[in-house]
Amino acid sequence: MTKKYQISVIPGDGTGPEVVKEGIKILQAAADTCGFSLNFTHYDLGGEHYLATGEILPESTLESIAQSDAIYLGAIGHPKVKPGILEKGILLRLRFYFDQYINLRPIKLYEGVDTPLKDKGPSDIDFVVVRENTEGLYAGAGGCLKQGTPDEVAVQESINTRKGVERCIRYAFEYCRKRDRRKKLTLCGKTNVLTFAFDLWERAFNEIAKEYPDIETDYAHVDAICMWMVKNPEWFDVIVTDNMFGDIITDLGAMVQGGMGIAAGANINPEGISMFEPIGGSAPKYTGKNIINPVAAISAAQIMLETLGEPKAAALIENSVVRVLRDDLEDVAAGRMGFTTQQVGDLIMDYIKGNNQ
Ligand code: IPM
Ligand code: MN
Repeated sequence: MTKKYQISVIPGDGTGPEVVKEGIKILQAAADTCGFSLNFTHYDLGGEHYLATGEILPESTLESIAQSDAIYLGAIGHPKVKPGILEKGILLRLRFYFDQYINLRPIKLYEGVDTPLKDKGPSDIDFVVVRENTEGLYAGAGGCLKQGTPDEVAVQESINTRKGVERCIRYAFEYCRKRDRRKKLTLCGKTNVLTFAFDLWERAFNEIAKEYPDIETDYAHVDAICMWMVKNPEWFDVIVTDNMFGDIITDLGAMVQGGMGIAAGANINPEGISMFEPIGGSAPKYTGKNIINPVAAISAAQIMLETLGEPKAAALIENSVVRVLRDDLEDVAAGRMGFTTQQVGDLIMDYIKGNNQ
């Protein structure tokens, strides 16, 4: 019997639906070629839906999504909705509800894509950030007093549990071993200032490291990591860090790998339902123009198939993306693809279907 996967699709806001459409096209082509089937259920969530109905993400929708094998997300964020409402109410809610405690973000410069880093090429820029995804400053601990008065106080605390930190670090060691490149795991922290939180991280890291003698370990403060990511990106293989630092350094990473049009990510619960998304936002000013780069969404789909256990289909997508970036697209990093969103999807699909070998 052919294997069948149920995929929940949340196209979301802005350019999300345009890139998700291309991603689904590619997923379908890869599934057809590799002999499994995908069943997509679309959920109308995001800014437009919220403005029209007042609904953000109802419990019943979460329960329905919980029946699927994976979630494919476009983008969340709407210029007419106050920042935080949709991000916390949809994106973070999904990450927390499904306990997707890993945010996996590969930073890989493909051939044919320009990096702003002088004298660096694809052999220098190929690492992965493992970002803790359910704790830290994102946990929502804190509050405010006397808001709007001169005596106002705002407190926002970083939550770091031994369990949460440990499962993230352990995942990073395992991932690094499986990746089997330089076998080096770097902890990114701030032990010189955040002496409570990163003391916990560092102790857990050093203890768990003893179980992985084959993995070289390293530590750098987050500010230094930013410096090295620009100066010597080739030093990195896998970086593990907390939620906030991971958020920040992966935007830098996205630029280093050629821009938001390329950067894909996965919110992973290794024992549950994971969610795959391009890491860029909803890009309202490009919405509906058919000019946004769908490669990030397509690479997110690739990671989805890898995670679901379809490595052949995933490799087929990556090889096709590699060819299109190398041979067909113009200057992706400068936002000039030379093709429309849909045409880029078609080009990748042609390689998948073998029409263009
Ligand atoms: C990301 C985004 C989100 C985050 C926002 C939209 C809440 O920036 O996925 O990196 O901060 O995690
Ligand atoms: Mn971010």
